[in-house]
Amino acid sequence: MERKNVLVSEADLAVQRDFQKKIKDMFTAREAHPVACVDTFGCQQNVADGQKLMGMLEEMGFTFTDKAAEADLVILNTCAVREHAEDRVFGNLGALTHSKKENPEQVICLCGCMAQEPRVSERIKKSYLHVNLVFGPHALWKFPELLWRVYERRKRVFSVDDEHGTIAEGIPVVRERGVKAWVSIMYGCNNFCSYCIVPYVRGRERSRDPECVLAEVRELVAAGYKDITLLGQNVNSYGNDLDIGYDFSDLLADIDRIEGEYLIRFMSSHPKDATKKLFDTMAASRHVAHQLHLPFQSGNDRVLQEMNRRYTREKYLSLVNYAKSVMPDLVLTSDVIIGFPGETEEEAMDTVSLVDEVGFDALFTFIYSPRPGTKAAAMPDPATRAEKQKWFDKLLEVQNAKSAALHAAYIGKTVRVLVDGKSDDPDYPLTSRTQGNRLVRIRGGEELMGRFLNVKITDSNTWALYGEAEE
Ligand code: SAM
Ligand code: SF4
Ligand code: F3S
Repeated sequence: MERKNVLVSEADLAVQRDFQKKIKDMFTAREAHPVACVDTFGCQQNVADGQKLMGMLEEMGFTFTDKAAEADLVILNTCAVREHAEDRVFGNLGALTHSKKENPEQVICLCGCMAQEPRVSERIKKSYLHVNLVFGPHALWKFPELLWRVYERRKRVFSVDDEHGTIAEGIPVVRERGVKAWVSIMYGCNNFCSYCIVPYVRGRERSRDPECVLAEVRELVAAGYKDITLLGQNVNSYGNDLDIGYDFSDLLADIDRIEGEYLIRFMSSHPKDATKKLFDTMAASRHVAHQLHLPFQSGNDRVLQEMNRRYTREKYLSLVNYAKSVMPDLVLTSDVIIGFPGETEEEAMDTVSLVDEVGFDALFTFIYSPRPGTKAAAMPDPATRAEKQKWFDKLLEVQNAKSAALHAAYIGKTVRVLVDGKSDDPDYPLTSRTQGNRLVRIRGGEELMGRFLNVKITDSNTWALYGEAEE
C-alpha cells in the first residue's frame, strides 16, 4: 500500500468541514439546539474515535448528554471483540425503539467495529429499521457527509465498505476535561491472531507521521494534560509502513524531549516486536512511565502457535526479564485468553504457571469468544464452558493472590502519584495513579486534582492502594 494513498487529502477534509457547516446552518435556521448522546464501547482506540465524533458534532452545533432519551442524535460507537460486547449493543439498540417512538425525529447511528462486520450491518438493515446511519471505522472521517445525507434525504445510510484504511489528520477532538489524553499513533493491525476480529474491522497497519504525533503531544502538554497514552493495536510496529528508518523507540525518544511535567504511556505492545531498544529507551527517558502492557495470551507454545502469536513462552519470559533488569520498578500488565479452541486443561495450567512465574501487577482475563470469520472460529472446540470456567477461576485465584501481595508490599512506602479523579468513597474521595498506573485512593480536596504528589501508602487490597499525601 503506498503512503500517498493512505492520507486523506486536505481537499477531502475541507469538503467534510463544509458539511459540518451545512448541518450547523440547518439547525440555526430552525432555531434548534441539537443534543447528541455518544455511547462508546470497547478499547481506548474506540474512546479516541468517540472523541473525534464529538469534535465533529461540536462543530455542527451539538451539545452533549449521556441520556439517550433526551438526545436528538444517538450514536452507539461499538466493539466487536467478544460476543458479549455485541450482545450489549443489540440490547441497547432494541431499547432505543422506545425513545424513537417518543421522538420520531431522533436519529440513531451505529458505528465502530461492529458496523464494519457484514453480518452485523445486514442484520441492522433487515431487523433494526429504526437505525438511520451505519458506518465503520474506515468512514469515520466522512461522518459529517453521511449525517447530512440522513438529514437531507431522510433515508437510511450505510457506509461499510471493506478497505485497507486511511489516516485523516486534523479532525477536531472533544477531550475529557482533566489530566488524561489519548493519542492514536497508528491504526489497524496486520497480525491476524487467529481468534481476533480486529484486523478484519480496522484494516491494515498505518502509522501517523511522527511530526503530526509530536505536534499533538506538544499541544496536549501545553494545554495541561499530564498523563498521555499513545495508542495502537501494536505500537511496536509503528513506523514499519513509513519506510524512513524510524521506529516506535525513536518516536518515544523524540516525545521525551518535549519539556514539561507529564507522563507518557502506551498500549498495546506485541511481544513478537518488542525490542531491547524499546526497553532501553523507556529506562533512559524522563517522561515515559515504567509501565508495560505486554499481552501474552497463553503460556503454552502449542496454543501460542495456533493463536498465530509468533513467539514462545521462553521468548516472552526473556523479554520480561530484560525489561525488569533495566527497569526494576517496572509495572507489568497483560491480556490472557482461557479456553482457546482445542486447549486442554494441562495447556491452560501452563498459562496459570506463567502468571505465577512472572507476577503481573494486573491482568485482563478473557474466556475465548468465537468471532465469526476468524480462523479460530472454525477450529474444533471440545472443552465445555464449565471446564473453561474452572480453569479461568483458577487463573483468577492465582492472579488475585499475586496482585494482593504486590499491593501489600507498597504499605509504608512513599510513591509519587498524579491525582486524576473523584471517587464515591467518602473516606478516600480522590483517585490517583502511580507512574506504573496503579490505582491509589487518597484523602484530600478537589484542589489537588491534576497535581503530582508524594503519597504514603497506608493500606491495600487486590485492586487498589490507599494513602495519604505527604506535606
Ligand atoms: N492488539 C492488542 C494485542 O495484541 O495485545 C490487543 C487488542 S484486543 C482488542 C484486546 C484483548 O482482547 C486481546 O489481547 C485478547 O486478550 C482479547 N481478545 C481478542 N479477541 C478475543 C476473543 N475472540 N475472545 C476472547 N478474548 C479476545
Ligand atoms: Fe488482535 Fe492480534 Fe491484532 Fe492484537 S495483535 S489486535 S490480538 S490480531
Ligand atoms: Fe473492540 Fe474494535 Fe477496540 S473490536 S477492542 S473497539 S479495536
